[in-house]
Amino acid sequence: MPRKSIAPRTLASLPGRFRRNLLAWYDRSARDLPWRRTRDPYQVLVSEVMLQQTQVTRVQEYYPRFLERFPDVASLASAPARAVREAWDGLGYYARGRNLHALAKHVTRWHDGTLPDKPEDLIELPGIGRYTAGAVASFAYERPVPAVDTNVNRVLRRVFWGRAAGNGKRESDVWQLAATLVPRDGKRAWKFNQAIMELG
Ligand code: ADE
Repeated sequence: MPRKSIAPRTLASLPGRFRRNLLAWYDRSARDLPWRRTRDPYQVLVSEVMLQQTQVTRVQEYYPRFLERFPDVASLASAPARAVREAWDGLGYYARGRNLHALAKHVTRWHDGTLPDKPEDLIELPGIGRYTAGAVASFAYERPVPAVDTNVNRVLRRVFWGRAAGNGKRESDVWQLAATLVPRDGKRAWKFNQAIMELG
């Protein structure tokens, strides 16, 4: 059945309504997760790498333990590979742990132990993809940039194009859309990105 046509004015207001509803929904229903209580770039990065392929409940268990053992970039950089492997044990996909270790060494060597704050610099680091670069820039530095992972991708395609047309869109179309939706204000951008992750 063809979709009912939507008045152009209603369509034009969709981004604004989506943003408002999403932020209001997040205020009501956000989970209190440990990585939402910090803006420490290293802690945010660890959480995002863990969350890439592991469920929130499991990450909630491993994340504080990992940070207790490696509280900052320096302690992770100087740790033996065996210790990192041990701390990662049970999370699976150990390549993530290895990449994180390599990244800590790289950042210690080349960036004075400080993670960059721009997505275009973050993405140059070992093991950091476009999503993680956006997530660290937004969740740690409150930069108004998009962060589109698999779940966010699906949400945006469905909401803005519908299931059928959405599937035909390119990845770059979705990132472009996400960039127009992210609020300009850094704190609202942080919340918008957390909210759309939560919805996803
Ligand atoms: N998955 C990836 N990043 C996340 C976040 N910040 N909160 C919840 N789930 C996530």
